[in-house]
Amino acid sequence: MELHDVMRTTFAAREFADEPVSDSVLRRILENARFAPSGGNRQGWRVIVVRDAAKRDALGPLIEPTCRRYLAEVKAGANPWNTVSPARIDQEALDAVVFPPRFVERLTHAPVVLLITVDLSVVASMDQHLARVGVISGASIYPFAWNILLAARNEGLGGTLTTFVAAKEPDVKALFHIPDHHAVAAMLPIGKPVKQLTRLRRNPVNAFATVDTFDGDSLAGGQ
Ligand SMILES: Cc1cc2nc3c(=O)[nH]c(=O)nc-3n(C[C@H](O)[C@H](O)[C@H](O)COP(=O)(O)O)c2cc1C
Repeated sequence: MELHDVMRTTFAAREFADEPVSDSVLRRILENARFAPSGGNRQGWRVIVVRDAAKRDALGPLIEPTCRRYLAEVKAGANPWNTVSPARIDQEALDAVVFPPRFVERLTHAPVVLLITVDLSVVASMDQHLARVGVISGASIYPFAWNILLAARNEGLGGTLTTFVAAKEPDVKALFHIPDHHAVAAMLPIGKPVKQLTRLRRNPVNAFATVDTFDGDSLAGGQ
């Protein structure tokens, strides 16, 4: 596929055809994804290819409470799981959440599930002393995760970068024998999407690019 097509059409696929993803296809995806950048080129990623049915079943209950809070906060009009304006959600609102059908299962029971972890003992976290939530550490792992999804798209496959598993990281680590110094960065369900989206909803460049200062003029050169 042409690069711009891949960039503009790699959507969050969450419904998959009942077709397996072979090890050889996965290997080809990872073979290309491994050229992602990471701080100091430390390449602290690990990929766990989850095929075992019991382990997938176990992932569901780990993800569910995080999804529940997410949906409750969305319903309350909040930006879910936000640290700048944390939502105040009570137990009643959590209990009232009705999950759309197969909301969790379609992710945990995708044709294949990849767990992505990053070795924090090699990650440079330049923002660690700032009084805000850290973002820099993720920059050493999410380009790799995104490369996997781009490479999957190139194979006619799709997937979603999900982070629901992170809230229950200790349990996920125990289930998959992940060492302490690794963080669980993402769970990627991957398979053949039941339909291919080609028009993604994204803000135009003028909505986010300014010159010289945050409140500067919009970048010129548009139509
Ligand atoms: C950091 C990050 C975390 C995400 N976490 C989840 C998640 O936990 N569950 C999920 O279903 N989608 C998750 N997504 C997918 C986003 O919802 C999706 O990329 C976005 O809505 C755009 O979808 P589209 O490409 O289909 O337009 C996540 C995406 C990113 C980049």
